[in-house]
Amino acid sequence: MENRGSFASRFGVIAAMAGSAVGLGNIWKFPYMVGENGGSAFIITYLIISVLITAPVLIAEMSLGRMGGQNVLGTFRTLAPKQKAWQGVGWLGLITAFVILSFYSVIAGWSLAFIKESVVGGFMGKSVTEVTADFNGFIASGWQPVAWAIVFLVMTCLIAGSGLQKGIERSSKLLMPLLAVLLVVLVVRSFFLGGFGESVQFLVKPDFSKITPEVMVAALGQSFFSLSVGMGTMLTYGSYVKKSENITGVVTNVLIADVAIAILAGFAIFPAVFTFDINPTSGPDLVFLTLPSLFAQIGGGQIMSILFFVLLFFAALTSAFSLLEVVVAYVTEELKLKRRSAVIVSFVGLAILATLCAMSQMPDSALRLGSLNLFDAFDKVSSNVMLPLGGLLIVLFWAWKLPKQRVQEEITNNGTCSGRIFPVLYFLLRYIVPVALVIMFINLNF
Ligand code: TRP
Repeated sequence: MENRGSFASRFGVIAAMAGSAVGLGNIWKFPYMVGENGGSAFIITYLIISVLITAPVLIAEMSLGRMGGQNVLGTFRTLAPKQKAWQGVGWLGLITAFVILSFYSVIAGWSLAFIKESVVGGFMGKSVTEVTADFNGFIASGWQPVAWAIVFLVMTCLIAGSGLQKGIERSSKLLMPLLAVLLVVLVVRSFFLGGFGESVQFLVKPDFSKITPEVMVAALGQSFFSLSVGMGTMLTYGSYVKKSENITGVVTNVLIADVAIAILAGFAIFPAVFTFDINPTSGPDLVFLTLPSLFAQIGGGQIMSILFFVLLFFAALTSAFSLLEVVVAYVTEELKLKRRSAVIVSFVGLAILATLCAMSQMPDSALRLGSLNLFDAFDKVSSNVMLPLGGLLIVLFWAWKLPKQRVQEEITNNGTCSGRIFPVLYFLLRYIVPVALVIMFINLNF
């Protein structure tokens, strides 16, 4: 492949991959999943699964991308030229990218709306009940969330359209460190709230009796979602990584950044939840209800509020263009369109899907799949079915289809690094991970 481009530096690779991993999954989804699934029990399960299952799958996925040097479909075609069925993994990845991006841009749109509301001081002096009523009105209007989701998609597409190094790598390198600083400021502020002690109890004190099969399924889905694993994002980014880069080293950094930011986000948010007696199980609205209520009542609240929603927006942006890149790489390489045209085509499809997702949250909306509205259905099905299924297929391909020597050479850069970790990794990916994923499918119910 000529002129395909690659990330310029090691820091660029880590920033882009951590940028993909750290997103709404960490700051919006993680806290409400923790709240819904029993606090520390969920966190412990999540940590164990992330290290033993998700991180190995991430390594496998990234290394496949670097072996194939192409988009998801092209990579499977090159690595298994005679077995077309494997390209199904590529198709699954493309569909998943659309499913995730369509609800993702709705939440990211909320964060933009909340930045605006914070800037004009709209939350100041309001009680939890008033903030909740405002929020419900916002959702019920339909057109407001739709408009903000589309604004977000335009921004994502503008960055994706400006290219791999100039758009994606450069904005990730800038936004990720900024995000970390903003989050630390917020945690420090939360430390001074009355509910901090209670939060520590809730987040850290282990209660093993709460680890049920449902908690495990939820933790696995969350872990896959948070590390961007199972649909070809990391495969696509891996295809832009130089052969000399140490894959396990990069993934270790990404894992640490991702987990640390999720847990910090918990400590930024739960003190407010407990201080204001908000129900920790309140679901996807959690950060959008608790934090404005907190900010409305504390000193320096308005600035903190702006900072928080800017943080959420940055996190969402670097993840959204990583999701979009799966589609863009496919359209440019397989359908031979220019990057700009690929972005425009994807934008049209995404704008339609995001509109449907946002409208499905209006009261009495008919946009439903079974018992869930379209938005919740997309959120649940992508994390609990599509990503683990994609992950399982990726792992089977890596550990059972490709010859051991091939994957060993790729992971160890022909024997120059990661020599000691490889046998462990190979064992996990060949036996433990597939079995764990199959067990989790058996336990899945809606
Ligand atoms: N990991 C991101 C988050 O936590 C979202 C994301 C980006 C993603 N790319 C992905 C999720 C690929 C699944 C698959 O918000």
